[in-house]
Amino acid sequence: MPSAAIETTELTKRYGSVTALESLSLSVTGGTVYGFLGPNGAGKTTTMRLLTTLSRPTSGTATVAGADITDRDAVAARIGYLPEEPPLYDELTGREQLTYVAGLRDLPDERTRERVAELTDLLDLDALDRRIEGYSSGMRRKLGFIQAVLHEPPVLFLDEPTNGLDPRAARTLRDTLDRLADGGTTVFLSTHVLPVVDEHADTVGVLSDGRLVAEGPPTELKRRAEGDGAGDRTLEEVFLEVTAEDPASEAAAEEPAAAEESTDG
Ligand SMILES: Nc1ncnc2c1ncn2[C@@H]1O[C@H](COP(=O)(O)OP(=O)(O)OP(=O)(O)O)[C@@H](O)[C@H]1O
Ligand SMILES: [Mg+2]
Repeated sequence: MPSAAIETTELTKRYGSVTALESLSLSVTGGTVYGFLGPNGAGKTTTMRLLTTLSRPTSGTATVAGADITDRDAVAARIGYLPEEPPLYDELTGREQLTYVAGLRDLPDERTRERVAELTDLLDLDALDRRIEGYSSGMRRKLGFIQAVLHEPPVLFLDEPTNGLDPRAARTLRDTLDRLADGGTTVFLSTHVLPVVDEHADTVGVLSDGRLVAEGPPTELKRRAEGDGAGDRTLEEVFLEVTAEDPASEAAAEEPAAAEESTDG
């Protein structure tokens, strides 16, 4: 496996005339946390769906954990994914859901029991024997996270993982990110919670209108050029600055939207 756990080259996704992602080239080192930021509609989820093989690029290439994203089975075997809406079966209990997913992953029963006990205890999910249809949104997210990490994948994709979590659960999840990366897991994380990336990301990438407009370690992005005012900027200031709309692109955005592609995913 190459040293980069995720590598994309000019990855592009268009839906009709809407360009959701434009020529994304990035490289994520194994065992690091990559924080993916960007305004609503910037293309973060689109990128995750391409890298997890749920959607196919219009052009460009990418590898995940050494597997090409055109090889769906190879990628699927090496990743965990927590999407914005975790894929859960309402009619199952949490435990049945996790057992089902562990079965798809060929995780031995004994190991499954250990992992489920460990992770539900960690995230304080005590409703494991209730049907998922009765879960709150935070409980669904916890279950979705557990489902994504159950099989200890080398590369983990998390789309807004702390969304809807109470402060204690969010703290636990954030600490878990560090532990995972220390253990060699590569974490690709999208969030709107800037302190999460500020504290946990080794590298931050900022998307705006489908383009990567800034990238680097948080400390580097925040560093102000010498003589350019006192002290460092906050990550929020950096975000607002690099994602500011220029008047030309605003005018373009007001043009009527074209037909959406509905055939994929
Ligand atoms: N299936 C689809 N069909 C048509 N357009 C889509 C589809 N999925 C995404 N888009 C468009 O692609 C662009 C990027 O959307 P995406 O969901 O990747 O944004 P995001 O960065 O995840 O935003 P958010 O922060 O709101 O989750 C948007 O303009 C969106 O409308
Ligand atoms: Mg999204």
